[in-house]
Amino acid sequence: MTTNFPQAESAAVSPLVAAPGHATAPGVRVKDLTVVYRTPLGELPAVGGVSLTIEPGTITGIVGESGSGKSTLALSLLNAVQPPGRIKGGSVEIDGLGDVVKLGGDELRQARGRHLGYVFQAAQNSLNPLKTVGKQLLDLGRSHGVDDLRALVRDAKDLLERMGLDGARVLDSHQHELSGGMRQRVGIMLALVLNAQLVILDEPTTALDMITQATILRIVREVHKERGLTTLMVTHDIGVAAEVTDRLAVMYGGRVVEHGPTMEVLGAPSHPYTRGLIRAIPRLSGDIAEAQALPGRPPTLGTLPTAGCVFRERCPLRMDICETVDPRPLTHDRRTVACHAVERSHSTAEQEEYA
Ligand SMILES: Nc1ncnc2c1ncn2[C@@H]1O[C@H](COP(=O)(O)OP(=O)(O)O)[C@@H](O)[C@H]1O
Ligand code: SF4
Ligand SMILES: [Mg+2]
Repeated sequence: MTTNFPQAESAAVSPLVAAPGHATAPGVRVKDLTVVYRTPLGELPAVGGVSLTIEPGTITGIVGESGSGKSTLALSLLNAVQPPGRIKGGSVEIDGLGDVVKLGGDELRQARGRHLGYVFQAAQNSLNPLKTVGKQLLDLGRSHGVDDLRALVRDAKDLLERMGLDGARVLDSHQHELSGGMRQRVGIMLALVLNAQLVILDEPTTALDMITQATILRIVREVHKERGLTTLMVTHDIGVAAEVTDRLAVMYGGRVVEHGPTMEVLGAPSHPYTRGLIRAIPRLSGDIAEAQALPGRPPTLGTLPTAGCVFRERCPLRMDICETVDPRPLTHDRRTVACHAVERSHSTAEQEEYA
């Protein structure tokens, strides 16, 4: 190896790189979370009163078209929403950390990395162009009090190699020497290397070709299992979500409209939006000829209805009540769905009408 990494003073194993399985996967409880962005029209909600429980040890996917609020929700779990955005209300309780909405300054910085590993969307552009990856890794380790920097470098190389890269070479490289796909993998390595127990990946495979994407998804699954993590994966690609997640939350217009076990949500979607999304994907709907694009476009902050159901403009089941009353998320058979039509079908036990 040609990198001049400082030799760690102590060979003791840092608690941050302790043997896998020693820490427990945290659960996350998001309650009534509202996140707004300041716009010329005033502060508008990108996440509107979302409640979502992420079970410890699961891989939970968040899916939905672009602009549905997935990244804003993911950033909120780190209390990392930046101006012109702000968390306006609600809480994000993470086991072992408490309500991260109330954390600030040093506590928050320590929590990120040590407890929460994350890859932001467009991670391939988030590296410091002036420093090698190895230097940034050491900065990360030092800022989180890692004693054994040698072990940290060893773990980083191991992760990079598992993702099909030459670890030593990548650590010696600057951002401009790496392709988009390589940077994406560096982002994933940085999210995992401090052994955080809650890992948030926002579109981690978007810039990658199919083969690299499959490799990354395999690594995410393997590391999740080996380390006993709780993992949240944000993706606009339902196929990706189908491959790796145990549970799926479907977002539309800043709401979670459906949430449940992935296979059940994809196999028998309840919400009209989930149904439309799945019908639009040939490899999930099963027949290319039958794949139908979802009509209309997702709302922007400025066009989001302020009352009633946010999906009604595009909904084939729209009813009068949908114009004025926001559907409540209701849980039925392990599935949480926010839709008046689904609610009625349960209360009248006429489910076959929507099957
Ligand atoms: N910095 C920002 N300023 C203003 N509006 C924003 C900002 N970031 C995101 N938004 C808006 O918030 C909504 C949700 O965005 P985002 O969370 O990025 O959705 P997704 O990740 O699902 O594509 C979109 O309408 C988007 O235009
Ligand atoms: S609440 Fe109404 S408009 Fe919204 S998804 Fe259900 S049926 Fe459609
Ligand atoms: Mg996004």
